[in-house]
Amino acid sequence: MNRLVVLASGSGSNLQALLDASATGALDAAVVAVISERADAGALRRATAAGIPAISLPLRARNDTTARRTYDARLARVVAAFDPDLIVLAGWMLLLSDAFLDRFPERIVNVHPALLPDDGGPLVATSRGVVPALRGAHAARDALRLGLPVTGATVHLVTLACDAGPVLARAEAPILAGDDETRLHDRIKAIEHRLLPAAIGRLLRERRALGGAGGLDALAIGGVER
Ligand code: GRF
Repeated sequence: MNRLVVLASGSGSNLQALLDASATGALDAAVVAVISERADAGALRRATAAGIPAISLPLRARNDTTARRTYDARLARVVAAFDPDLIVLAGWMLLLSDAFLDRFPERIVNVHPALLPDDGGPLVATSRGVVPALRGAHAARDALRLGLPVTGATVHLVTLACDAGPVLARAEAPILAGDDETRLHDRIKAIEHRLLPAAIGRLLRERRALGGAGGLDALAIGGVER
């Protein structure tokens, strides 16, 4: 059984989607630990309810570079202790250092609440034309502010460039009249809950077919739904 370690800062609805997909057998993987930098994260409560180790690793000095480096080294040690096949960032709000990424090459997956392009660039093609790729922590708010006709969700491998690694799956969400940030983000999340387990399942199957880690070039990444 493939082992997933989930890093999550928020309510944990994407974690729940993974737990549910694992429980029904739709996803051939088990969440073996959930780690959060926020002691009060809903994700930790969901992990506890599911009988999975829920680890709170609080980060106190967010802007102190040395403290951040020490934190990432500690985080890497805790993650490595669970021997994960994949690390899933499911609403994880901290940027990870290059040392952390180097320790788990091509094994970190992120879900992002906007459409991101295959080329890591500033624009993404949609069924409603080309729109800006919205990166960062407020993608649903930014989609409304810019008056975009459509947004969506993307699952991608994590690289040093923020929200720009190779795309594993992407799906659109319409923006409707009367949407506010919460309503739009909830619609995007409903899509993420389907997309994230599906993308992880496919990545793990492709890796197994390749007989192990398999280089990125060999993976059929970029499967896109529109
Ligand atoms: C999701 O929209 C995810 O894309 C973003 O943070 C949100 C986390 O939501 N990175 P939840 O905690 O899984 O409900």
